[in-house]
Order: sequence, then structure tokens, then C-alpha cells
Amino acid sequence: MDYFSYKGGILHAEDASIKEIAKEVGTPFYVYSTATLRRHFDLFESALSGIDHLICYAVKAASNQAILKTLANFGAGMDVVSGGEYKRAREAGVEGRQIVFSGVGKTGAEMKLALSEGVRQFNVESEEELQVLSEIANNMNKVAPITVRVNPDVDAKTHEKIATGKAENKFGIPISRAREVYAKAASLPGIQVVGIDVHIGSQLTQLLPFEEAYKKLADLTEMLRSDGHEIKRLDLGGGLGIPYGSKDGSPPTPKEYGQMIKRVLGHLNCEIEIEPGRLLVGNAGLLVTEVIYVKKGHDREFLILDAAMNDLLRPALYEAYHDIVPVLQPSVNQKNTVYDVVGPVCETGDTFAKSRAMHICKPGELVAFRSAGAYGAAMASEYNTRPLVPEVLVNNSDYLAIRERPTLDEIIARDKIPNWL
Ligand code: LLP
Repeated sequence: MDYFSYKGGILHAEDASIKEIAKEVGTPFYVYSTATLRRHFDLFESALSGIDHLICYAVKAASNQAILKTLANFGAGMDVVSGGEYKRAREAGVEGRQIVFSGVGKTGAEMKLALSEGVRQFNVESEEELQVLSEIANNMNKVAPITVRVNPDVDAKTHEKIATGKAENKFGIPISRAREVYAKAASLPGIQVVGIDVHIGSQLTQLLPFEEAYKKLADLTEMLRSDGHEIKRLDLGGGLGIPYGSKDGSPPTPKEYGQMIKRVLGHLNCEIEIEPGRLLVGNAGLLVTEVIYVKKGHDREFLILDAAMNDLLRPALYEAYHDIVPVLQPSVNQKNTVYDVVGPVCETGDTFAKSRAMHICKPGELVAFRSAGAYGAAMASEYNTRPLVPEVLVNNSDYLAIRERPTLDEIIARDKIPNWL
């Protein structure tokens, strides 16, 4: 459920008219609803009530500081995967002790940054990383709290580009080697084992792969405890999927996910961390765009929008589906047609949808991609020298451009011409 709805025939984000925002900000732009963020955060909070837990928002899904601050005010910690994300979270007012640091290729500089400002834990992904972290922490006279990310060799049954829990993926250490790696961790100076971490993939639409992985984690917890390690936290990663369109059916709810977590892991008395990204922000964001042309092709019609693959990469990269809805509610007897929906970028991959059944569109009209809040603005670029897409945050009837569109002059001024030219 979200807080985007038609009021007086115009699509609104909460009480703010998308048409008005478009007039002020120009298109394309992302718009997020605070009430929807709140609702989704609360779903996880109540799903995990009764057990010690922290919801660490996966910053990569939508990284604007205003979104981080909104979620932090609700009580979220953060999951970061780079020094940049760590700094953004800190700038947004998040304490180091609320931040978990994930990622398969943490650099020494990133480790130093997090160690000097504070970190809840590093989710270590290899023995090589463990060694470097130990040396750095030791030299700084610090102790790095760590979990080891284990790779449980579970098929997450999601798009192959976002599955991370199979043995052939680059993530984590094989679960079969966990005992050795924990023994090594316990022997290294500057390292303190606090728990275990797992993340098997993103946009999971079934509970079973999670359950399979978490059962392996429960067994491992007992084994490591019997080896004398203090396993007090389990970081269960993110990955719970959202319905993008009717074809996804209904993915499991946070409540069902929470019940399963309690059933499989509750007896271990560990603090539970989860790292949701998509479920918190996905349905809380729209990408609003204007129709430039309705172009007659050889055997089809193209709807050419002013948004492109540089603004919303998911369809080009993962053949992802996003509902496209009109901003002005069509009348009930308005006819439908079929379009190939595309952007202005100069490659055929710049296609949002093929043969999409839609209302008949006119140039100048506004349409919105739904469920675009996660991995939308965060993955945008300036390809084709198209200015980085702005973001707007709505709270009731208030709204603000939380990232403004750069001017062409600003973009072009970033280039430096060498003096030999
Ligand atoms: N934790 C870790 C260690 C992760 O790598 C990720 C996502 C998450 C948490 C959050 O997962 P979520 O709850 O959002 O599924 N760009 C792709 C998704 C990439 C996900 C990468 N890792 C997309 O647009 O579908």
C-alpha cells in the first residue's frame, strides 16, 4: 500500500499534486512519500516486535540524505557498502554505532573512516579482508566488531543479476569454511567477533529460500558457539521483494517474514538485524515524466518520454517491469492502446516497456512510473549529458526538491581541458 492516489482527477503524493510539483521542478523527477516510508518501516518494526532487533536500511536503494534522515528518525540503522554511503549516513545524523558496513571490496581507507568515526560492525566477506581489517584496527589501537558473511549456497529464485547466495557468486565465504574462518578471526588482533551475516539476493518473492538460508545460519550459530565464539547478533540481509505489477502476485509480507524469522531463529536469543532496501522505499517513489512524442513506427507506436534509461535503469538492465500510470486520471470511457515506451537516449536498450497496454497519450501529458523509489534515482547517471534527475520528498502537503536538477553549465563546467589542447 502507498500514499499515491487520484484526488480531483489528479495524481497526488499524499496531499501534494504531482502536476503542481512538475510545474515547479520540471520533468523528469522522482517523488517520494514520507507516509509510505513510515508505513513500510512500521510493517518491519511490528513484524520483529518481541525480539531484540535493528532495521538497517540498505542505503544503496535510495541514498538521498533526506530519505536517510527520515528513516533514521523512525529508528532505522543503516547498511552501507562504501565510504560514500557511510559519509552520507553520518551527514544525515546517523551515529556510527547504528551503521553496519557491508561489501565485498572494502578498501583500507574505508575501514579507517568507519573505525575512526564508529561502526556497529563490519560484515567481512573474505579472509583477505579480515587480515587487512585486523592490521588497520590494530595500528589504530581500535577493535573492529565483525560478522563474517557466509554464502549458504541457496538459490534465491530471483533475477540472476541480483542473486548473491549461490556458491558461484562473489559474495561471502563458503558456509562449509565458516569454522576455520571464525577460528582465524578469533586469533587476530583488533578483531572482535559479534555475529554472523547472510544476504542471499534481492527481490525475493518466496519465503522458502530465506528459510533455507536461515536454517543453515541457526545450525552454524550453535556450532560456532560450541567452538567458544560469542555469537550475539545475526544479520539476515535484505531482499524481501515487492509487487511491481500484477504478474508478481503477492510476495510474502514483512509479517510473514518476521514470523518465519522468529520460528527459525528465535530460540537462539540473538539480536536480529535486517537490511531491507527495496521494501522500504520501492513503492514510496514514482518517476514522473512527460510525453514528448507519440511516434508512428513501421508496425507499432512509440511513446517517447523525457525520462530515459539514465534516469531509471532497471528495465534496460534487468528487463524490470514498472507500471506506468497517467497523472491526469483518464475518463472511464477513454480507450486503451498499445505502445512501446521508450526514452530519448541513443540506444535500443533505452526501452521501458514493449507492447504496453495504456490509455491513449498525447504529447505534453505527464505519466508516472510506479514502484520506482528503490534503485531508481540511486542508479541514475548523466549519460547523453542528460542532467542528473531531481528528487522531491513529500510530507502531507509539503514538498521540497531534496536534490535539484543541475544546470547544463554546471555539468559542462566539471570537465577540465588540459593545457596542451
Ligand atoms: N544487504 C546487502 C548486503 C545487499 O547487497 C543488498 C542489495 C541489500 C541488503 C538490500 O536488498 P533489498 O532489500 O533492497 O532487496 N539494483 C537492483 C538491486 C540490487 C540489490 C543489491 N544489493 C535492482 O534494481 O533490482
